[in-house]
Formats: sequence, structure tokens, C-alpha cells
Amino acid sequence: MDFVTPINSAARRVPIWPLYILCALPPFWFLYQGLTGGLGVEPIKALEHRLGELALQFLVAGLAITPLRRHLGVNLIRFRRMVGLAAFYYVALHLLVWLVLDVQILGQIWADILKRPYITVGMAGFVLLLPLAVTSNAWSIRKLGPKWRQLHKLVYPAVLLGALHFVMLVKGFQIEPLLYMGAILMLLALRFKPARRRQFV
Ligand code: HEM
Repeated sequence: MDFVTPINSAARRVPIWPLYILCALPPFWFLYQGLTGGLGVEPIKALEHRLGELALQFLVAGLAITPLRRHLGVNLIRFRRMVGLAAFYYVALHLLVWLVLDVQILGQIWADILKRPYITVGMAGFVLLLPLAVTSNAWSIRKLGPKWRQLHKLVYPAVLLGALHFVMLVKGFQIEPLLYMGAILMLLALRFKPARRRQFV
């Protein structure tokens, strides 16, 4: 049975802009929960964690889009920019919560970035994502031409750094960050595998 055609035709009919709004909403809900005691005894940590986790999930989802098309013929390419920008939105808010609510002291920020390797690694991931977010518009795609594709390959090291940051920050043995890292390595490896079926553009 062909399960791909109905998925592709349904995906073509989904409007994109409501998805931007939908993706933008959860942090406001988290903030409300934080202010009303719904995030437990350490609301700032909980906020940081939720935003970091969603950032990583959007990054993984973005990485899955090309292999899904190449290997299964499921075409979700028109959602890729939205997913990428949502990932950046969550990483930026995750960083903002750390800066404004967690560390707060200006002198401490730089010290923490240098002193704590997991912060250094997370920050490197954020820095790599910055030019991608800035050039995620039609004008930049036109202006940069083939260089745009080259530039956007930075997403691979950025996602790896994001996952490594998670592996490094957990205490003791925890399976969750390793599962993210495993999924990311698998999705990256799939890029080297020749496509098995016709590409649906
Ligand atoms: C690509 C960028 C990044 C990704 C994908 C990411 C992802 C994550 C994830 C998944 C967590 C753990 C959430 C959980 O425990 O459920 C986390 C925690 C954290 N991240 Fe990030 N992060 C990124 C960048 C940053 C940056 C730039 C900073 C600060 C400079 C930062 C600071 C933190 C802190 C302080 C924690 C909590 C550590 C703790 O438990 O005490 N992250 N991040």
C-alpha cells in the first residue's frame, strides 16, 4: 500500500503561518506556569530544561526532513524553514532564560561560558545557528546562491554540539541524552546513504 501519497497531499494542504504561531506559544504557557507555581520548586531550572529540550527536538525534526524525503519519499520540505526557525527560537529563549533569570550577573556570564565546558559547547552550538537564522529568508537565499547551501551545512555541527551539551550536563548515566545523540548520528549517517526510492519533489 502506498502510504506516502496521502501524507504528501495532506502536507501540501497544511498552511504554514498558523504553525509559526503554534510553535511560538508554548514558552508563554511555561512562563505562566512558572509564575503561578506550576513548574515546581525550581521554576527557572524547569523553564531552562523545557526550552532546551524543545530546541533539541526541533533541531532533530529539521534534520529528519531530508532523509524522510530521500529514503521514504515523504515530502515535508515546505516545513523545513519553519522547523529550523522554531529550533532557533527555542535555543535563543533557552539562552535568554539562562542569561536573565539564571546567571543575571554580567561578569559571571563570560566566566561561566569559559569555565563550564557544557556551557562552552552549548554556546558554540548557538553561535553556529545564528547565521542560519539570519539567512533563513528568500532574499538571503537569492543573494547567497550556492553559498547558501554550504552555509546551512553548519546545522550539522550545531545539532551535534547541542546534543553533546546535553550529554555533558547530565549527572551520572542517563539514557535520554544518549538517545538524542544516537538519533542525530543516525540521521547524519543517512545523508551518506544513496536514496532508495524516487524523490518526490
Ligand atoms: C544548540 C544549542 C542548545 C541546545 C540544543 C540545548 C539543549 C539543552 C538541553 C536538551 C538541556 C537539558 C534539558 C533537560 O534536562 O531536560 C539543556 C540544559 C541547559 N542548557 Fe542548553 N542547549 C543549547 C544551548 C545552550 C546555551 C547557549 C546555554 C547557555 C549559555 C545553555 C545552558 C543550559 C543550562 C544552564 C542548562 C541546565 C543545566 C542544569 O541542569 O543545571 N544551553 N540544554
